[in-house]
Amino acid sequence: MKLPVNHDTSLPLPNGWFCVAWSKDLVPGEVKRVYYFGEELVVYRTRRGKAVVLNAYCAHLGAHLGQGGRVLGDNLRCPFHGWEFGPSGRCETIPYCDTIPPRARVRSWDVREVNRMILVWRHAEGEPPSWEPPELPEIGGEGWTEPIVHEVTVGVHMQDMAENNMDPQHFLYVHHGPPEEDAEISYGEGGRFLRVRTRHAHETPYGRFTVDLERDTWGLGLTSVRMMGFGEKGLLMYTSTSPIDEHRCISRWLITTGEDLADTVGAEFLPWAIEGVKQDFPIWENKIHRPDPVLCKADRELIEFRKWVRQFYSHPLTQADADPREARAERLVHEPVVAHDLETVEAEGHA
Ligand code: FES
Ligand SMILES: [Fe+2]
Repeated sequence: MKLPVNHDTSLPLPNGWFCVAWSKDLVPGEVKRVYYFGEELVVYRTRRGKAVVLNAYCAHLGAHLGQGGRVLGDNLRCPFHGWEFGPSGRCETIPYCDTIPPRARVRSWDVREVNRMILVWRHAEGEPPSWEPPELPEIGGEGWTEPIVHEVTVGVHMQDMAENNMDPQHFLYVHHGPPEEDAEISYGEGGRFLRVRTRHAHETPYGRFTVDLERDTWGLGLTSVRMMGFGEKGLLMYTSTSPIDEHRCISRWLITTGEDLADTVGAEFLPWAIEGVKQDFPIWENKIHRPDPVLCKADRELIEFRKWVRQFYSHPLTQADADPREARAERLVHEPVVAHDLETVEAEGHA
């Protein structure tokens, strides 16, 4: 029986780097079963400390390697008949047979471990990584606090969640805060990197601050928000959102501040941010995704984001993408995203 879902989306899963576990949650010799991209996966850490991600079902008779599998050195041993698979996914040992069939392998995923997260490269066509995830110097850096972390699962496609960041007009209605103005948008790293800079005035129990916000996004999964203008270094919030499937995603947050702020903002920012995101939940969990929304001129950031994000999908997102002859003049999407290396791009006005 098909389970009912309370919203529909025509969006496929994006390509890119996605977190499948916190580094701290996987010690050497540990095995975890995880489910992302609509697939059963297994994550393990070799005795030498390397994180490995494999497809979960054994090439032999299909046992789940995350359900009773054991790490032996660099390999993961299947719980059913003891076949051992190495980090490349190849079967290295069959304990009771000296010939290993060439097809005895499971899929191994490209893994990077950065910013205290284990990331895998997911591509709809199985293509190898075309870019690298960022490594942020603040995380674990000198003068920065030990990061506080949090994670949340939400019943929404991850793009709808990401759009929240590029939708200043909802701040007033959902978060009861002032909408931001004069966002400066730029691109880098061959167009895969998007930066939005804004400035806000804040009244806080510690005084009035003018805060510069710098929001960076790599692909559709990794975002950092740097808040500068208070304390020596300010605050960094890094988030990674991973698709569980087309209807659910998990968002992991990591927050660190300059050490001078540890006793004030550092302790208070995370609960405040969690409360803020909870205000978005009822909207996310009940909305549909509009592939061709009617947007107004003030949705400038969203318009930029929708155009930029198309590069992270293998398949057309809209009928207009699939068949350009059907594109209407007022349609949102026009031409492929062009990379401008950290150069401000004037958003077009769409009435
Ligand atoms: S099913 Fe894995 S070794 Fe047989
Ligand atoms: Fe929001």
